[in-house]
Amino acid sequence: MNEVLQNIKTRHSTRAYTDRQVSAEDLDLILAAAAQAPSGMNMQTWHFTAVQNADKLKELNERVKGAFAKSNDPRMQERGHSDSYCCYYHAPTLVIVAADASNWLSPFDCACALENIFLAANSLGISSCWINQVGQTCDDAGVRAYLTELGVPQNYRVYGCAALGYAPADVPVKEKKLAEGTVNIVC
Ligand SMILES: Cc1cc2nc3c(=O)[nH]c(=O)nc-3n(C[C@H](O)[C@H](O)[C@H](O)COP(=O)(O)O)c2cc1C
Repeated sequence: MNEVLQNIKTRHSTRAYTDRQVSAEDLDLILAAAAQAPSGMNMQTWHFTAVQNADKLKELNERVKGAFAKSNDPRMQERGHSDSYCCYYHAPTLVIVAADASNWLSPFDCACALENIFLAANSLGISSCWINQVGQTCDDAGVRAYLTELGVPQNYRVYGCAALGYAPADVPVKEKKLAEGTVNIVC
């Protein structure tokens, strides 16, 4: 198997992180890979905000929890009131991927960019996970105000985030069972 296919195969979502920070050099490589992703009509309307400040990430988590606490969904409410809930699993870096909400292709563009982030990270020995909760709550006033403070353009929606960091050595990697019957080859 070639290196690219091996990298795709070995990427997996990580939900526990050590305090070790992603270096500026590696973060630059990862963000450059994100910007290389395909985008509809090559519009590249995406915007990447990489947050590496633990206090700022904690505050963002508090804002997300504040939005969840207002939800009618009991599961969201529970998260909103939980002291231990951390949507980004205490990863030292979170890349917020946002794009122009008026472009209907934005969710697809951002998904492509996020996958590039995950694969670039994996190739550098950095663990990752897609984090949905900031996107889920980005229309909440408290979350939006903080996103603006962090530099996310005001008219941009958050379509996903990437938690990045290093997994603790003792975390086992779960064998991934691939769904069957998802491929149809017509000759
Ligand atoms: C659109 C999307 C949203 C996701 N949101 C979350 C999330 O909020 N939190 C989380 O822990 N994982 C999230 N994931 C990761 C999936 O749970 C994960 O990719 C899936 O279980 C397969 O595992 P793997 O990534 O290790 O192959 C998300 C993945 C995608 C593609």
